[in-house]
Amino acid sequence: MSKEFKRYLITSALPYANGPVHIGHLAGVYIPSDIYTRYLRLRGRDVISVCGSDEHGVPITIKAKKEGITPQQVVDRYHAIIKDSFEKLGISFDIYSRTSSPVHAETASAFFRKLYDEGKFVEQTTEQFYDEEAKSFLADRYITGTCPKCGADGAYGDQCEVCGSTLSPDELVNPRSTLSGATPVKRETKHWYLPLDQYEQMLREWILEGHKEWKSNVYGQCKSWLDGGLLPRAVSRDLEWGIPVPVEGAEGKVLYVWFDAPIGYISATKELTPDWEKYWKSEDTKLVHFIGKDNIVFHCIVFPSMLKAHGGYILPENVPSNEFLNLEGNKISTSKNWAVWLHEYLVDFPGKEDVLRYALCATAPETKDNDFTWKDYQARNNNELVAVLGNFVNRALVLTQKYYDGVVPTCGELTDYDRDTIAELSSIKASLESNIENYRFREALKDAMNFARIGNKYLADSEPWKLIKTDAERVKTILNIALQITANIAIAIEPFMPFSAAKILAMLECEKFGWERLGAMDLLAAGHRIGEPSLLFEKIEDDVIQKQLDRLTEIAKQNAAAEVKAEPQKAECTFDEFQKMDIRVSTILEAEKLPKTKKLLKLTIDTGIDKRTIVSGIAEHFSPEELVGKQVLVLVNLAPRDFKGITSQGMILMAEDATGALRLLQPNEKTNNGAMVG
Ligand code: MF3
Ligand code: ZN
Repeated sequence: MSKEFKRYLITSALPYANGPVHIGHLAGVYIPSDIYTRYLRLRGRDVISVCGSDEHGVPITIKAKKEGITPQQVVDRYHAIIKDSFEKLGISFDIYSRTSSPVHAETASAFFRKLYDEGKFVEQTTEQFYDEEAKSFLADRYITGTCPKCGADGAYGDQCEVCGSTLSPDELVNPRSTLSGATPVKRETKHWYLPLDQYEQMLREWILEGHKEWKSNVYGQCKSWLDGGLLPRAVSRDLEWGIPVPVEGAEGKVLYVWFDAPIGYISATKELTPDWEKYWKSEDTKLVHFIGKDNIVFHCIVFPSMLKAHGGYILPENVPSNEFLNLEGNKISTSKNWAVWLHEYLVDFPGKEDVLRYALCATAPETKDNDFTWKDYQARNNNELVAVLGNFVNRALVLTQKYYDGVVPTCGELTDYDRDTIAELSSIKASLESNIENYRFREALKDAMNFARIGNKYLADSEPWKLIKTDAERVKTILNIALQITANIAIAIEPFMPFSAAKILAMLECEKFGWERLGAMDLLAAGHRIGEPSLLFEKIEDDVIQKQLDRLTEIAKQNAAAEVKAEPQKAECTFDEFQKMDIRVSTILEAEKLPKTKKLLKLTIDTGIDKRTIVSGIAEHFSPEELVGKQVLVLVNLAPRDFKGITSQGMILMAEDATGALRLLQPNEKTNNGAMVG
């Protein structure tokens, strides 16, 4: 038997304010948490949903440095964008706060101080890299050098972005500080550690024995951390940006971002309500953390240990965590701009907030990584939202307008078929509830859509448009039921698609129903007048989708060009060997495609020495017209070779860029043909 809770506290991972929010964040965390919260609200539960921007940490200081602005300016910019775009998508946090708020600084400091005063930390001195010119300790990200694995320059102290290897700063060849360029030296520094090993037993009992019902990805990660043995973890850093460590002699030290950020959930609750303690300190509260899989250890191991160390706080009842969403087959990446950004989507697709919510819920990476594609997005809109949901609601409303002037007709005697349909609806209700309560939102969404599928089938089977001529009385009952189903849909889809739910209610001219009314067949009274129908969803055309795909293609090209690794240098050649090559400036006089070939062009060239024929495999890169008249460099003494019966006497020099495009090499000013290159 699951426990009955008096109230719910829902948290969603605080997004880093070093970039906007993208579809991966939404599908993984914010859409599931919003569905869950909206459902509980509809059920009339005491529920609050808290979130905010995570505004500390090294990536924010690096971004600031790159752009020549302060970390505060970085977080101000992204906090505003994130907050606004969440609101516009209908993500209904009760509060969206930020970790640079004074209440948070106070809360996090006091939290640290209590643990410090009670001797819950261990102090440890270690050697860290230090920049003597900038007089600053260096976070791993602030050290660059040559990657020991692939030889690329510009690898970071924690990772090489060229080959993807995880590194430690000690491994870098020729390490340099990004602050001053100086070679970092080791220096001793003292930090505070939370001895996680002391909480291992508590965590084992609480998670491994007490929460076997957690999603297998979450439970599995916890188990492997615990089986691997926990070590003390530093909760402070040598950094300027962050919450100062509230202890004598800790100048230049701040709380580690992963220490302060989860406390942000508590601070946000405090900012929301003076009654915050009942949400955090009562066993009657069900605390649920929605997160992505890279956050599991912090929410299941570190933060619960912090809460236990502090005392008085409840632990989460569940930590539903999703896998990752890819975009068009590739990993979403903020630094590579490989993402669909929420704030941009909202501009490109005004009025289609619910379409994104729907598509992302339907492809949410609940049990394994999943792929978002624009084609799938389009298909879900056109084949599901338009063809099923929109179509049913529209038919029910339009027929009511047509036959009854917009007045809900009376329900007469039910047939067996009517009764079966109604029974089916209530069985879906049970499944829908159980799916939401067990964090299976994709299945839940299918259930909600089934209300519309059943409605469609009901109308298709009972054919009121035919019956109206033969049995007008029966049509009243059919349309009454169709309208009741429509009103039910407004309840069932609200957690998933709140804008469309509101639109349906507006068209029905009725107030929002509570969840307990789902399944009822008397939501609309006979005689009630409904409003004018309008379309809930519209078809999305190919050109709209193509535009998004083109944008991604362009980004992929730019990334490929930025990421190129030059081929390694060839073996040495002597000057004499080089001198054997006779390269001349030449002009292309004529160009034509060689018939029956895809790649070959036949070129007539003026080499200054003679006019000759060269066959070149560049037909897929250049049209004959664009080549005629161009000066190029030609290796004229290359041994002749036959192509399709034509003798080619020489080779045009070209460079192939990272995207595979070919470039002609030309003298930078017009030069006489025959001029020697060397
Ligand atoms: N900012 C972190 C991330 O995006 C999440 C922080 S969650 C919190 O991965 F618990 F620390 F708030
Ligand atoms: Zn590398």
